[in-house]
Amino acid sequence: MTKKLFIKSYGCQMNVYDAQRMTDVLKPIGYTVTENADDAHLVILNTCHIREKAAEKVYSELGRLNLLKNKRVGEADRMILAVGGCVAQAEGAEIVRRAPYVDMVFGPQTYHRLPEMVARAHRDAGVVLDTDFPAESKFDHLPEQTTVQGYAAFLTVQEGCDKFCAFCVVPYTRGAEFSRPPQQIMEEAARLVDKGVREITLLGQNVNNYHGARDDGSEWSLGRLIRELAQIDGLSGIRYTTSYPADMNDELINAHRDVDQLMPFLHLPVQSGSDRILKAMNRRHSSDDYRAIVGRLRDARPDLALSSDFIVGFPGESDKDFAATMDLVREIGFVQAYSFKYSPRPGTPAAANEYQVAESVKTERLAALQDLLNEQQLAFNHACVGQQMNILLERPGRKPGQLVGRSPYMQAVHVNAPDSLIGEVVALAITDAHGNSLSAELATAPDGQNVKGLMRQSKTQKRAIA
Ligand code: 5AD
Ligand code: SF4
Repeated sequence: MTKKLFIKSYGCQMNVYDAQRMTDVLKPIGYTVTENADDAHLVILNTCHIREKAAEKVYSELGRLNLLKNKRVGEADRMILAVGGCVAQAEGAEIVRRAPYVDMVFGPQTYHRLPEMVARAHRDAGVVLDTDFPAESKFDHLPEQTTVQGYAAFLTVQEGCDKFCAFCVVPYTRGAEFSRPPQQIMEEAARLVDKGVREITLLGQNVNNYHGARDDGSEWSLGRLIRELAQIDGLSGIRYTTSYPADMNDELINAHRDVDQLMPFLHLPVQSGSDRILKAMNRRHSSDDYRAIVGRLRDARPDLALSSDFIVGFPGESDKDFAATMDLVREIGFVQAYSFKYSPRPGTPAAANEYQVAESVKTERLAALQDLLNEQQLAFNHACVGQQMNILLERPGRKPGQLVGRSPYMQAVHVNAPDSLIGEVVALAITDAHGNSLSAELATAPDGQNVKGLMRQSKTQKRAIA
């Protein structure tokens, strides 16, 4: 009997990648993906612990799923309910206490053991809990990637964090920094491209600190890895996220100058523009360091578009500190950004700080910051109108006849185009700008033909996506 698997991912892109790899692990023991929890035999909530709201969502979803589970009591039809990801890692015992009907709880470093956990959940009474940081790397034990969703794929190259920013749970949930060996990454990337993938986003919590050890003992930095990946025929776009400002090195900056496939967009979280707050956050850069890094990047790649993360209302943040954040945003100019109210997380140093900022102040500051960021985003989107860009058309849009892709600068772009162009890099003329997206039409050459993308690319890429 084939068994059905439903995975719901919360939070960051790494969870999206992890969900695909969980699917790969479970396929050999008979699980196929369903889009519907109702008829699933195994439901996995792949969770996020970064802010309180994200973590609380899990418990309400578990309550709903328990109702479904109770309807399905027959052995053959039984539903196994599992919690994976960062909430599982951080709150394993708490989940078992608050939701005793959960069958499995496992952290982000143990999902290569899923088949064994599922067997135990069927065999034994009680919950299966696996929140180890095992000595073995899961990447050495995962089967080859067979689950590829679309033409733009994620590939985790680095995981974990040793930075210990005072607000952040990641070093506790994802563990110590670890870089996958370059050979393993090159093989995975080549397989993805072979399955039709045209654009790869390299993932890591500190991806720009990637340093993968080779068999001969030498190491590749992220800049070197990107140069090598760019040699793969058919790979038309490379992106990476998320980066730490102090780890932005020359090799990577030069890759932005030299590698055509590396997209001119960088997510480089600064968190605050106040040096006092950056210090209290245990960030290893000042606001001037950030300005200097951005200057070097823009020298290397003048059209580089920047995105960032901001936290407002970190403990002790004064009006003056917040004003420094606003000043930095005005000065740098971001094409998009994520901004959050500080959310105290259990076990992190900042949560115990006595100078917590009032909720009303956080709300006010967040609104002011988001107004400014939205203004900058809209201005950048408008500045794109009239430009021609090579864009990978990834999938159908919501409206009939419409396809969607991402511009080199990460904006969503909508265009009326035939389905046959899905998976192709196509030249588009940007015709209109909106808050979060662009509209475009197929660019036409003087003879009336569409101009296909100008990037280095092979013509063999219309292969079926698994
Ligand atoms: N409160 C608010 N935002 C947070 N982030 C991380 N931890 C917290 C927290 N405790 C934000 C940071 C980080 C992004 C992924 O989430 O801005 O860069
Ligand atoms: Fe969290 Fe800081 Fe590490 Fe980013 S660098 S994951 S914010 S501790």
